[in-house]
Amino acid sequence: MGQRVQGKVAIVTGAASGMGAADIRLLAEEGASVVAADVDKVRLDFQVAQLVEEGLSVTGVTLDVANPDDWASAVRTAEEIYGAVTVLVNNAGIHRTVGLEDTDQALWDQVIGINQTGVFYGMRAVVPSMRRAGGGSIVNIASIHGIVGTETATAYHASKGAVRSMTKQAACQYGREKIRVNSIDPGVIETQILVDARKHTDLEPMTQLIPLKRFGDAREIAHGVLFLASDEASFITGTDLVIDGGMIAIQ
Ligand SMILES: NC(=O)c1ccc[n+]([C@@H]2O[C@H](COP(=O)([O-])OP(=O)(O)OC[C@H]3O[C@@H](n4cnc5c(N)ncnc54)[C@H](O)[C@@H]3O)[C@@H](O)[C@H]2O)c1
Repeated sequence: MGQRVQGKVAIVTGAASGMGAADIRLLAEEGASVVAADVDKVRLDFQVAQLVEEGLSVTGVTLDVANPDDWASAVRTAEEIYGAVTVLVNNAGIHRTVGLEDTDQALWDQVIGINQTGVFYGMRAVVPSMRRAGGGSIVNIASIHGIVGTETATAYHASKGAVRSMTKQAACQYGREKIRVNSIDPGVIETQILVDARKHTDLEPMTQLIPLKRFGDAREIAHGVLFLASDEASFITGTDLVIDGGMIAIQ
């Protein structure tokens, strides 16, 4: 337990599993009051109950990031229980392994709606609260696939590239109000996605393409989130933190 984000009020989306679950734990362990948001109420309640039992300051809210009304209600809940929001982690996201010609309108709309429009709704919803607080830190979870291409996942790549550029735009607009906006680009991280993928594919050869010769752990991304959320990152805005074991550094 530490105090690196003591007194901060954080909303984290996609908090029911993977990196979001690691984020809420680490932020709460380091002193933040956390509103944990997810569309999956059952798994969210399970995560939140564990942390509350440990004495951490965490409240669960059901939220679909693609629904602006849900955002208004999540910010209201955060303000009522803990006070003005000072940290937002836009983590919720979905991946679809579908290439260009096979991407139909419904799939495109779904991925862009959650991964990209959801981040826009989230930033738009919390800025007034951060303004009331006198500043804040927004951390948007993009991906190395917002930087480099692969043979598939057209809508996913598009959405993550957009998250990176929306981050830079918002950083420029809100710097004067002491609201910092950064993104994190995870590489391949051990979450449910990999558990599912291993049922069909041997993923170990892929680790040889990574300088650190392994996939990442959700807690290793949470440490990046914690740093950018904290005042230790007080002069950092509009940038990307790549956390990928060196995957995109290699030729
Ligand atoms: N796992 C990886 O290797 C990897 C790599 C790069 C980037 N990312 C990104 O990191 C983020 C977290 O990924 P993860 O691997 O932890 O995924 P995950 O599937 O384990 O967790 C995602 C969470 O988001 C929630 N969610 C989905 N749609 C939602 C919606 N509309 N509203 C609210 N919540 C919703 C899910 O219920 C789930 O709890 C995502 O944005 C993902 O694109 C993951």
